[in-house]
Amino acid sequence: MSVKINENYLLLKSNYIFIEINRRVEEFQKENPQAQIIKMGIGDVTRPLPKSVVNAFENAVLEMGNSETFKGYGPEQGYRFLAEEIIEKDYKKLGVEVSTDEIFISDAAKCDTANIQEIFGLKNIIAVTDPVYPVYVDSNVMAGRSGPMQENGQYSGIVYLPCTAENNFIPELPKTPVDLIYLCLPNNPTGTTLTRDELSKWVDYAIEHNSIILFDAAYEAYVTDENIPRSIYEIEGAKKVAIEFRSFSKDAGFTGTRCAFTVVPKDITAFDCEGKAYDINSLWNRRQTTKFNGVSYPVQVAAKAVYSDNGQKEIRESIEYYLKNAKIIRESMEKIGLKVYGGVNSPYIWVKTPLNMDSWEFFDLLLNKAYIVGTPGVGFGPSGEGYFRLTAFNTLENTVEAMSRISKLSI
Ligand code: MLT
Repeated sequence: MSVKINENYLLLKSNYIFIEINRRVEEFQKENPQAQIIKMGIGDVTRPLPKSVVNAFENAVLEMGNSETFKGYGPEQGYRFLAEEIIEKDYKKLGVEVSTDEIFISDAAKCDTANIQEIFGLKNIIAVTDPVYPVYVDSNVMAGRSGPMQENGQYSGIVYLPCTAENNFIPELPKTPVDLIYLCLPNNPTGTTLTRDELSKWVDYAIEHNSIILFDAAYEAYVTDENIPRSIYEIEGAKKVAIEFRSFSKDAGFTGTRCAFTVVPKDITAFDCEGKAYDINSLWNRRQTTKFNGVSYPVQVAAKAVYSDNGQKEIRESIEYYLKNAKIIRESMEKIGLKVYGGVNSPYIWVKTPLNMDSWEFFDLLLNKAYIVGTPGVGFGPSGEGYFRLTAFNTLENTVEAMSRISKLSI
């Protein structure tokens, strides 16, 4: 006996939520091969890549097969041609100044939000909204930034900020000091958002307390309301205290293609134990150049095409398609008397379970009686108990069919 495991992994719940759901669904399908299951669980897009993206992707693959245009390793931080497009089309229009060396192209917001904690000390206190995208919590547990899970479903050492119908899904500022604050807006899983004024309170808090906000904006393309910020950098002072994560997955259909980016402003500093300040951008650059080889050239060319006029038109069509599904889900659930949240500036609809059912009971009911798969709210944290998440990432036909099946249940 010599090799020791990282025992922090033993603190984790045995399965990542979506793996557990897949396991249960596969078992059900085996026992009920006739069941036409409709999956509204994991937030995976269903519409194909836009035509303009596919054309660019194809041409870039052909370039790789030609000795004149072939490319080997690219820059670990991503190609400049994509960073420049991001700056021009995502940030300039919001009046936000970002430089190319503040942008790090990657394969996923999931990986970046999981990896970012590595550049911060283990003694930092992290705060998460509850319910929460599990990656933020689990990656910190793996690193050793928490104690064991307590009976209330919270890991000790992590500050949970409940977001429920009672507080209108608006997290309260922490009552005890915290260092790293994860915010995801529009929120996964609740589909709710914060207005500019509400988000400003968080930026002010971070400035006052020397905290850093890790802002996951993977769903910003779904924002249709003028009062809801698309980027945390729309808030004054945020470039000193916030790292922003974005993705091409949910707006341009890249869940199977993989491309995302993270903005790490050069103005953000953090300190060593002697109080000396270091810039976070250099640390993240060091981490990425050591542990990451960059996103493939054809994928980055494909991502650039998302910003072309045609690409923008095509992705708007997809977003509107999913938002229409979200509206159908909201209205159908409300019609049968359920309370629903989100689904307006978001592809996620957060449903209060009926008849005091817990989240997994409602999961079982929908799977067994309607062959519908959703995500039990408790899988996102203890405050998600009694809630259930449905996604609008499906075909219109499946969405309508799923709502018709649920409407026929006596709930
Ligand atoms: C979700 O269903 O919460 C998302 O698909 C997860 C992800 O994007 O990794």
